[in-house]
Amino acid sequence: MAIIISGKKLAAEIQEELKIEAGILRESGCVPSLTVVLVGEDPASQIYVRAKTNAAERLGIRSQTIRLPVDTTEKELLEVLDRLNNDPALHGILVQLPLPTQIDPLRVTYSVSLDKDVDGFHPVNRGKLVAGEKSFVPCTPLAVQQMLLRSGFDPDGQHVVIVGRSMIVGTPLASMLTQKAPGANATVTVCHTGTRHLADLTRQADILIAAVGRPEAIKGNMVKDGVVVIDVGVNRVEDTSEKGYKLVGDVAFDEIAEKAKAISPVPGGVGPMTITMLLKNTIFAAKNLSRQ
Ligand code: GUN
Repeated sequence: MAIIISGKKLAAEIQEELKIEAGILRESGCVPSLTVVLVGEDPASQIYVRAKTNAAERLGIRSQTIRLPVDTTEKELLEVLDRLNNDPALHGILVQLPLPTQIDPLRVTYSVSLDKDVDGFHPVNRGKLVAGEKSFVPCTPLAVQQMLLRSGFDPDGQHVVIVGRSMIVGTPLASMLTQKAPGANATVTVCHTGTRHLADLTRQADILIAAVGRPEAIKGNMVKDGVVVIDVGVNRVEDTSEKGYKLVGDVAFDEIAEKAKAISPVPGGVGPMTITMLLKNTIFAAKNLSRQ
């Protein structure tokens, strides 16, 4: 039976480390802060945003959520961001995605100050990641890397197959893991909707990262024995429970756990680690800005 890579447990460990760093910053007179901007009332986004700000508060990071109505114009949102960018008491800023259709997400990512871009979505920060320069790195790719390293599965020299090329997960993760750097140096294959013979590629993975966005899309016959699997997916699937749904990942957990050396669960896998990396980026922002 596979080892379970518990993001929940690793997140708790890292948050203890971050709490100490936040405490040191506070003692030096800098209260680290995180501002989340939420446009509209998407129920899943509301849950994610609450989880982020609650976790921040537990660590001693001051947090606020700026809630804007669903009919907010792009200009109004950019004005809010301008005010936040110029407030010296604020460090991390993020705009929760998805945004209502009248707002161009690319323009928004360009409008978060480079020094406060704790999501790492600003195109300049994305470019720095590709160039191997120090920058804010998106939280989910950081979470995946930390889960592998802290469980003893260094990607160095391994064939990592990533299924999914999103701007939030697959693409930045591929940039990260191909770097000639500690905790990276992997051979990376990125699969996507244009990939032919997907299973032929996933079966070659030493480490498989599933970021497909479809429930249980990766089946047991698509992996080799001894694979290490990180499941990034969070999908709501209807069931007969009181809530009316359950959360499942992008891999068929039971089938794959029979063959895998290690696997991360959903829930309790990547989710809590992504939030933890956001807090790490926020502390990094506060440290840098307090030195300026
Ligand atoms: N929506 C889904 N994932 C994310 C994320 O990592 N950051 C932001 N801002 N929005 C998201």
